[in-house]
Amino acid sequence: MIRKVLLGIAIALLVIVVGFFVTINLRWDRTLEAPLPEIAASTDYAVIARGRYLAYGPAHCAACHVSDADQATLEAGGQPPLSGGHVFDIPPGKFHVLNLTPDSATGIGRRTDGELARILRHDVRADGRAAIPFMEAQEASDEDLTALISFLRSQPPVKHEVPPHKLTTLGKMVMSFMITPKGPASTPPAVTPKEVGPERGAYLARGIASCVGCHTQRSMVTGAYTGPEFAGGMVMELPQYPDHELVTPNITPDRTGRIAIWTEQEFIDRFRAEVVLPESPMPWVFFARTSDDDLRSIYRFLNTLPPIKNETGVSLQPKRK
Ligand code: HEC
Ligand code: HEC
Repeated sequence: MIRKVLLGIAIALLVIVVGFFVTINLRWDRTLEAPLPEIAASTDYAVIARGRYLAYGPAHCAACHVSDADQATLEAGGQPPLSGGHVFDIPPGKFHVLNLTPDSATGIGRRTDGELARILRHDVRADGRAAIPFMEAQEASDEDLTALISFLRSQPPVKHEVPPHKLTTLGKMVMSFMITPKGPASTPPAVTPKEVGPERGAYLARGIASCVGCHTQRSMVTGAYTGPEFAGGMVMELPQYPDHELVTPNITPDRTGRIAIWTEQEFIDRFRAEVVLPESPMPWVFFARTSDDDLRSIYRFLNTLPPIKNETGVSLQPKRK
């Protein structure tokens, strides 16, 4: 009797497990519905210049899309092509950063403006599958999306074949059940706020510069925010210093926050100084190329936030066991 019950349970479990894996294999690369934004690339010089500024500055597209071979040039202040190829080798899989130069075989020459705009705004790839959620430009205005795509189209084409992603079973599980393409929280503005001040700062800090993404505590599994916005406390590993970790500081205007006692000029100066702590994942190199007016606006915006009491300590800390 007991054996029969156990066998029954074993069969039921097997059915669940097989069902689970079948579901994963059907779901992970499912095609999604998302609108193709009505964005058309322009050849206007000022529009292209704005896109270039964003890509190598506050929107830091170059942080991922420059090839490993060109990293040194990038860090020395150059603007090497966005020819892709960097690999993120993480537990969910091996993810390859794509070639954004206009090459027709290996780059964005194959894509329409709508497809490029859709992956940036809705996280849906040209083939209709969910994009690996690495990018943070969902809230970019129509104007900035146009600028970015116009700049991408203006680069000299570089032939650089990037292999397809290779997902592990864990990665397929995550893509099946945890990733629903983000998309913008509300309809992004048609034009970018131009006046120096909190509105322009919020656009940058919440949107394309994504200060909020690192300076807020969040779940390591789903990425969802678990702490108050901009109050810091997210812990980051340091591959080369495994016994230490970085903790993002609180950047709300509370006494426990890092910038509470900084003047606007001190804030700008800190950004011009670039990386201070080795291996910091904060894209300082690109934020250092951000204009005074953009940095001023971010500072003014951060100072309008509700002060949150959250003592995060110094940024570099011995690892808590
Ligand atoms: C943190 C790394 C990272 C950053 C920063 C980043 N990207 Fe990407 N990008 C990726 C990865 C990874 C993919 C591949 C996504 C996929 O296939 O699911 C990608 C894909 C793309 C694609 C699709 C290309 C194609 O052939 O369909 C475009 C367009 C793009 N990125 C533009 C940008 C722009 C513009 C920025 C800056 C606003 C940016 N990316 C910033 C990592 C990044
Ligand atoms: C990819 C993650 C990431 C992003 C994006 C990011 N930060 Fe940080 N930030 C960090 C980490 C990690 C530290 C602590 C290590 C360091 O100081 O470099 C830090 C430190 C800081 C500090 C303290 C620096 C010091 O010397 O005390 C300030 C101020 C700051 N960030 C503001 C910002 C602002 C403003 C933005 C958006 C424009 C931003 N961060 C975007 C991860 C990030």
